Amino acid sequence: MARLPASIPTLTTARLRLRAFAPGDAAAVTVLAGDAEVSRYLLHVPHPYPTGLAEEWIASHRDTWTQGQGATWAVTRSPDGAVVGTTSLRWVRRHDHAELGYWLGREHWGHGYALEAAAATVAFAFTTLGCARVFAQHLGGNERSAKVLARLGMTAEGVRRAHIKKQGAYHDTYQFGVLREEFGRGTREVAAGGRAAR
Ligand SMILES: CC(C)(COP(=O)(O)OP(=O)(O)OC[C@H]1O[C@@H](n2cnc3c(N)ncnc32)[C@H](O)[C@@H]1OP(=O)(O)O)[C@@H](O)C(=O)NCCC(=O)NCCS
Repeated sequence: MARLPASIPTLTTARLRLRAFAPGDAAAVTVLAGDAEVSRYLLHVPHPYPTGLAEEWIASHRDTWTQGQGATWAVTRSPDGAVVGTTSLRWVRRHDHAELGYWLGREHWGHGYALEAAAATVAFAFTTLGCARVFAQHLGGNERSAKVLARLGMTAEGVRRAHIKKQGAYHDTYQFGVLREEFGRGTREVAAGGRAAR
């Protein structure tokens, strides 16, 4: 994997700017992530969303980056700069692989922002980090996320049955992955802000 810049780089697409979170974003994160429909399929976002968690989460990003373990971006809408959600990568240098994560505030669903932001994040993993593989998983029933991963060009790699316990119930997890050589032209166009092929 490549040497990284000192701080999380900003990624720009046609409609979005992905930048490091700042302490001033905590209120927006609390509102967006506080929606039960957003946290429903997320492993690390509790509901109700506790006071102070957004501040703590944002403050943790710098160490995760400087320790070479991952990056988290605020997905902001151009040109007004509103925070619409987040993307993240967690990587293991030994394996040259990274796990992709994302969520958007509910009012921002249905515009293709998740696909656009995720494509730019995956492009970063392959081109800047030098990853050989990017993978992701979603919980059973999360059809919106399944569509994002398929449109990214990821391959369905299997199901882990009853792998996650969330709010007292066991959930299957659906595994997806894409290799560097598979990350094709169509996906790069999405990363640059174009529409994905359907
Ligand atoms: C998963 C999640 C990010 C998907 O958001 P989304 O808005 O459905 O996904 P996209 O941003 O890719 O938008 C796709 C939709 O926008 C539509 N769209 C509208 N304009 C578009 C454009 N210019 N470009 C692309 N798609 C566009 C697409 O047709 C598509 O709708 P469809 O699925 O009905 O065909 C969102 O539902 C979410 O945050 N969920 C809660 C958290 C979560 O589950 N995170 C993932 C954990 S694995």
